[in-house]
Amino acid sequence: MDRTRRDFLSATAAAVTLSTTLPALASSDPQTATSSAYAAPTEIKAIDIINLRELEPAAQKVIPAGGFGYISSAAGDEWTKRENEAAFKRLTIVPRYLTGYKDADRSTTLLGSKVSMPIIVSAMAGHGMAHVTAEVGSSKGTGEAGALYTAASLSTKTMEEIAVASSGPKWFQIYLPADRGQAREILIRAKTAGYRAIILTIDTVVPSNRETDRRNHFRSPLPVGNFPGESGAYAAAPIKRDLDWEDVEFIWKTTGLPVLLKGVMSPELAVTAVERGCAGVQVSNHGGRQLDDVAASITVLPRIADAVRGRATIIIDGGVRRGQDVFKALALGAHAVAVGRPILYGLALGGWLGVQAVLQHLDGEFEMTMRLAGVRTIAEISSSYVAVGPETLATI
Ligand code: FNR
Repeated sequence: MDRTRRDFLSATAAAVTLSTTLPALASSDPQTATSSAYAAPTEIKAIDIINLRELEPAAQKVIPAGGFGYISSAAGDEWTKRENEAAFKRLTIVPRYLTGYKDADRSTTLLGSKVSMPIIVSAMAGHGMAHVTAEVGSSKGTGEAGALYTAASLSTKTMEEIAVASSGPKWFQIYLPADRGQAREILIRAKTAGYRAIILTIDTVVPSNRETDRRNHFRSPLPVGNFPGESGAYAAAPIKRDLDWEDVEFIWKTTGLPVLLKGVMSPELAVTAVERGCAGVQVSNHGGRQLDDVAASITVLPRIADAVRGRATIIIDGGVRRGQDVFKALALGAHAVAVGRPILYGLALGGWLGVQAVLQHLDGEFEMTMRLAGVRTIAEISSSYVAVGPETLATI
């Protein structure tokens, strides 16, 4: 192998440890491995949130540097990561007053599950990097907030531990193992544990250039709960890199559960997903962690929603930091938003109470936005409440 290729492979292997293989120090006792090899935060306490952006520098003070770099960074120049947030700011809200309304109902139903807010926790590997309670804490906090939780297949804890930690609805995200037997086994486990839908992540077919992880020489020391004692085998038989529509069919035939595709960024793919029987799509560029220089997810949402024409549930993630962002996403056709990094920052700062606080804060801002914009229910939120900045100016 030539030197450039070897260097790239070893660097990217280190950079995407959690999305490709089991970590080097996988242990049969997750708690022991978590606490002995990596000093994750331990405090469980109420946290006071002014806004979600301020959580990042606060979390940086308590999360070990390598773990913080893994969570906060993105691929390449990190343009897409920044653009995810910036694009929301190019949209303006067009409020209506004198509506006679005095409350705002945020409750909704997502693929049959009733939730108190259209805000879900996005699938993220390795919550143990943010807190010793890992996904048990984040799942509990999400349930206490009345929101929906997505468990990642590469979680620190097992899917069964995560499932019993809260009574709220949960979906399971999968990086499909290349081995069909292993894939079948994990899918059946997810169904048996009570997960109500399967999210297939489709944008991670090759490791990305996470330069911060390379710089930090970061390799996660945490276990991957769903694959106990299989570090060697799983590393040798990694996730399926040549995903196609047969894999999608395999998932719903194996589980009988609704299947969502995560990583959809074009109307064409969204339409094919609907035609192939998917129950939903998650419009996502992986928080800018996979292919840099793809568009902000909010900018592609309107065309995807137009193409889907109400035939599937649409979730969007990437840069959602304000209640106004939730409102804009719903106005442009999403049924719910998914939140990534702020959840891990809340977990780091306060355990399950921190996660609950993040969701309640975002929901509170969303309620304020609905009331100030003049809508009373989620069904009332439409594209007429949102304009693109310069167009608003052009009409003055
Ligand atoms: C992720 N994300 C992710 N997605 C996925 O499908 N499977 C996974 O295992 C992970 N792991 C993961 C780890 C960490 C630390 C982060 C920050 C993110 C991507 C995630 O679901 C989501 O797409 C983005 O995080 C959303 O962007 P924001 O909210 O972080 O800007």
